[in-house]
Amino acid sequence: MKTYILNNGVIMPSFGLGTFLVEQGESAYEIVKSALKIGYRHIDTAQAYGNEADVGRAIKDSKIPRKDIFVTSKLSRKYFGDEKVIRAALDESLKVLDLDYIDLMLIHWPSHDIEQNRLIWSIFEEYYMAGKFKAIGVSNFQRHHMEDLLKTAKVRPVVNQVECHPLLSQQPLHKYLETIDCQMTSYGPFAKGEIFKGRPYEILLEVAKKYGATIPQVVIAWGLERQIVMIPKSVHEDRLLENFKGQELVLSKEDLEKVNSINRGRRLYTDPDNTPDTW
Ligand SMILES: NC(=O)c1ccc[n+]([C@@H]2O[C@H](COP(=O)([O-])OP(=O)(O)OC[C@H]3O[C@@H](n4cnc5c(N)ncnc54)[C@H](OP(=O)(O)O)[C@@H]3O)[C@@H](O)[C@H]2O)c1
Repeated sequence: MKTYILNNGVIMPSFGLGTFLVEQGESAYEIVKSALKIGYRHIDTAQAYGNEADVGRAIKDSKIPRKDIFVTSKLSRKYFGDEKVIRAALDESLKVLDLDYIDLMLIHWPSHDIEQNRLIWSIFEEYYMAGKFKAIGVSNFQRHHMEDLLKTAKVRPVVNQVECHPLLSQQPLHKYLETIDCQMTSYGPFAKGEIFKGRPYEILLEVAKKYGATIPQVVIAWGLERQIVMIPKSVHEDRLLENFKGQELVLSKEDLEKVNSINRGRRLYTDPDNTPDTW
């Protein structure tokens, strides 16, 4: 599996399993176990997904050495505010996952209050220094959020996980992140099903047919070729395998350009600058 070296030297697998909307309990446990059996070594969870405990249990029961699995989790916005509440939430993730450390902890969403983001980041830095998080990063941060954070950060964010798919290829943000040595992770690679409709579908199908591949595989290969981390979610074993094999596909320059041509700057998830304050 291709890996990326983060700005603090930590090695991150370029491909993993997303677990948003994977029902907590046995469903999450079984699907993570199946993914690990297939060869997935990177699991993306979050406090907000409610399945950290199942992810942790599946990792333990897999008997795969802990050091060989990369786990990402995220601090939920509902814990923003008081320092004590933030610390308690971070401790809870470690406890619920039942792991000695988390490979990568992210701030799930930026606050509209710069000071709040800075406060959370300073607490993240403490956990990082203490070895409880091997790496720390952010999610849904726009360029201006990053620039604000960097003014006071002692530890630079290693990752920014953002919505990214052929309809929203995030080229300007990606370019900026490269200049500050921050790895971009794509979420929602299948654009809430929009890649299976209309013009995007026609273009992706044409490319997929050339390689005897599928549309999800083309999208995964496109992201990996751009040096982006891809974390598609599925609760179906056949799709887990199909997506996993997407890593083997290498698209020609011409075909990468065809996928790039789908970009319309179309956001399908929430706009980070327009989330409600209470959310
Ligand atoms: N940081 C954030 O704010 C944020 C936000 C959203 C997501 N994420 C992370 O990113 C991960 C991926 O995003 P996502 O789950 O929203 O969307 P996604 O991975 O783009 O798409 C998942 C959807 O595609 C279907 N699917 C998966 N593989 C398929 C295949 N080979 N063929 C056809 N359909 C397929 C899944 O259905 P089945 O499950 O029924 O197969 C599911 O409906 C999440 O799980 C989460 O870990 C992060």
